[in-house]
Amino acid sequence: MNSIKIKIINQLKDNYSFILYNDNKDASIIDPAESLPIIEYVNYNDLKIRDIFITHHHKDHTSGIEGIKKQFPEINIHSPSSHIKNTRFVLRNNDEIETQINSFKIISTPGHTLDHIIYLDNKNKILFCGDTLFRLGCGRIFEGTFDQMFSSLQKINNLDENLNIYCGHEYTINNLDFIENILNKKNLFTNVRQKVESDLKQNGKSIPFSLSDEKSYNLFLNQESNIGQLIKEELGLKNFDLFKYLREKKDNF
Ligand SMILES: [Fe+2]
Repeated sequence: MNSIKIKIINQLKDNYSFILYNDNKDASIIDPAESLPIIEYVNYNDLKIRDIFITHHHKDHTSGIEGIKKQFPEINIHSPSSHIKNTRFVLRNNDEIETQINSFKIISTPGHTLDHIIYLDNKNKILFCGDTLFRLGCGRIFEGTFDQMFSSLQKINNLDENLNIYCGHEYTINNLDFIENILNKKNLFTNVRQKVESDLKQNGKSIPFSLSDEKSYNLFLNQESNIGQLIKEELGLKNFDLFKYLREKKDNF
């Protein structure tokens, strides 16, 4: 059986890139920020890089492309925009893409940037969501509107809750501190804090995480959870307003 393996590579201060590979050692890369650690891992493990997939145009998700392309000139770069240098294939909402390693469905999630896309692998139950969703948080709205970001998050909220999610940054503790602080309800998050702290202790990272956990605890993603209902009632807010309230507060946290 040709199973997929995912190597998480720490990049820059708190970024994550991913190397996906199979038993035949075909590999693809998601969001390379720094080429060197990726090339080292690829060479050490004798992998053959076929493709690079990009979630959005920000430098900390794309600046590794050039160095990798130099080493492996044959690779294909897939991205949401022809403005991203070296892009060979521009991906759009609902595109489906099959490679030796991946079987991705593309979902457009504007908000953090207008070009943002995420990569859903339904067969392996994994989602690479860049800077749209973080564990217990979501991306800052740089280019889109609150409405766009809200509906992008709703697209994720409606996916199969058995998904394992790989996001673009390690922001979880900060997100947890924020939500406890802003709602002044530490006790609601005791379980998730225990889980997060144990993940960090064991693996040095809090990813991947499950969509079903996020649906319970991430109020940017799901306002219909038990916690969401409680908070909405207390603050007198509807779903979208709770999202907007939290996102605005988080920008200044
Ligand atoms: Fe970003």
